[in-house]
Amino acid sequence: MSDTTESLTNRYDGAAGKWRDKMRTLGYYDGYLGFLCEPGSRPGAHSRVIDVGAGTAAFSEAWVAVNGAPSELALMEPSQAMLNRGAEALRARGVEPRLLPAILGEVRYTPSHEVLAAHVIEHCPDPLLALQHLFGLTRGGGRLRLVVSKPHWCNAIIWLQWRHRTFGKAEIQSLVKEAGFDIESDYAFPSGPPSRTSYGLVARRPD
Ligand SMILES: C[S@@+](CC[C@H](N)C(=O)[O-])C[C@H]1O[C@@H](n2cnc3c(N)ncnc32)[C@H](O)[C@@H]1O
Repeated sequence: MSDTTESLTNRYDGAAGKWRDKMRTLGYYDGYLGFLCEPGSRPGAHSRVIDVGAGTAAFSEAWVAVNGAPSELALMEPSQAMLNRGAEALRARGVEPRLLPAILGEVRYTPSHEVLAAHVIEHCPDPLLALQHLFGLTRGGGRLRLVVSKPHWCNAIIWLQWRHRTFGKAEIQSLVKEAGFDIESDYAFPSGPPSRTSYGLVARRPD
């Protein structure tokens, strides 16, 4: 792990205790529910799911609330404090997650039908490489459900704490396609902080 990633992980370790409540209070959990309920491709009954940069697993929790328990759910997350809380939240929903304490690209893992990645590639030094790693984690015919930060003054304030980057819509769509995915749909969060900070996209790995 580079010094930059290690320092970021230490900061996420420090934020872990309040992260799950924060995701709810600020409307991100509800935002993820809305995104996953959008009409379009539904996951199969026996999907294997991985949540990359899972944090306290808000996106996975929403996935389970909408779709039920998957056949396997893995959390990839470098902050052990975040990972512990994410595992606890999923166990409360009757799901025992596989825990992968790692950064994207650090470990190989069996490709999944559903790859969830919310607000993580904005921390990666090379976003195209990060998307290529996400492509490698997606089975042929499987889907990436991606949420990224978009340009907005709210993100300028958040940047002061997290030093993350943002993506214009055309830029992220072009990177996702360059990584090998076909874009199926995009999603504008309808209200609250997610509507100002974030943008969602569903992309399919061709068979
Ligand atoms: C902004 S938080 C988002 C957490 C969660 N996805 C959510 O929406 O609540 C970013 C998370 O990505 C993790 N992260 C940062 N860099 C990463 C990387 N290169 N690979 C995987 N996870 C990373 C951080 O530890 C942190 O928990």
